[in-house]
Amino acid sequence: MSFIGGFFGLELPPAGAPGLASFWKMPIDPAFTFANARSALAALLASVDPPRLWLPAYVCRSVAQAAQAANLAVSYYPLSDSLQPDTRLLDSAAKAGDMILAVDYFGRPPEAAFLDFVGRRGDLKFVEDACQAIDTGADPWGHWCLRSPRKLVGVADGGFVVPADRILDAHRSLFEPGLDSYQAACMRFEDEAEQANGEWHAVNQSREHAEKVARRRMTRLSRTVLAGLPVEEIAGRRRANFMALAGKLEKIMFLPAAPPRFVPFGFPIRLARGLRDRVSAELIAQGIFAAIHWSDLPSPEVFTAAHSLAAEFLTLPCDHRYDPHAMLRMANIVLETVNRP
Ligand SMILES: Cc1ncc(COP(=O)(O)O)c(C=O)c1O
Repeated sequence: MSFIGGFFGLELPPAGAPGLASFWKMPIDPAFTFANARSALAALLASVDPPRLWLPAYVCRSVAQAAQAANLAVSYYPLSDSLQPDTRLLDSAAKAGDMILAVDYFGRPPEAAFLDFVGRRGDLKFVEDACQAIDTGADPWGHWCLRSPRKLVGVADGGFVVPADRILDAHRSLFEPGLDSYQAACMRFEDEAEQANGEWHAVNQSREHAEKVARRRMTRLSRTVLAGLPVEEIAGRRRANFMALAGKLEKIMFLPAAPPRFVPFGFPIRLARGLRDRVSAELIAQGIFAAIHWSDLPSPEVFTAAHSLAAEFLTLPCDHRYDPHAMLRMANIVLETVNRP
């Protein structure tokens, strides 16, 4: 029965085209969407059940949680200083049927050497972790593509896998979504003057810490918002902000300073570890929150290069909420702190 009358539920404007949901080929069937990406990945891993999963040594802990939930044997592989997978090691160590996950770091796809390896090793299964990518500017390269929208745009939950062949083969989400994930986002939204940062930040932190692998579905709210978010506008703003920062911070930026074909996730800079922490603290003191990717790597300490990167990277925000003017203010604070004796 469908009701007629009564109070209005939340009404959102109709989806514009092309929205992020269709651009990303988000599954139409909500049963193939999850509350977060780690749950979508765990469902995929449990369905495919490869003999071994290879993860990059530089990755967030939630990816390892997905492997643990699916009870898989995990090995880590090293990366170059520019975050390219060590294909020589993978080529000799990975066995037929193994699954390899690689990340589009900061929104950028891996380089040709890795893509050649993917093309050559038809006996392996590949997951493209695009959780930091709105648009890599290149074709998808894996058998499956993993997404976590809340890292990139203003939705509070969601995670899904898009298969390259369009056959949905992962386990389904089973449980109703919860709106609890929206508490912090709504608090921040209502606090238009951003006076209550301490309150919404704390609520968001405790929610992020509580994220786990589960078979809970993504909210309809997030699916609807994603359908309406304009890809081109978001991409254009991010690229412009990236270039504004590149103009000031070329000496310490991690990515190439040329206009990016990909849509930047953020603007990573690399600094000596003590200095990185000083810059981060100075930015926080001025109300600027730069992220650390990742403070808690799941890979063993023997992967020293990955652990060094994690101690030296700082990701400056350059997303579509801001304009180049705000970027220059942030760049000046970074430069002043870096150049202070
Ligand atoms: C590269 C990457 N992949 C996957 C994930 C997992 O995303 P979620 O928090 O939605 O489970 C993250 C989270 O930080 C990530 O950074």
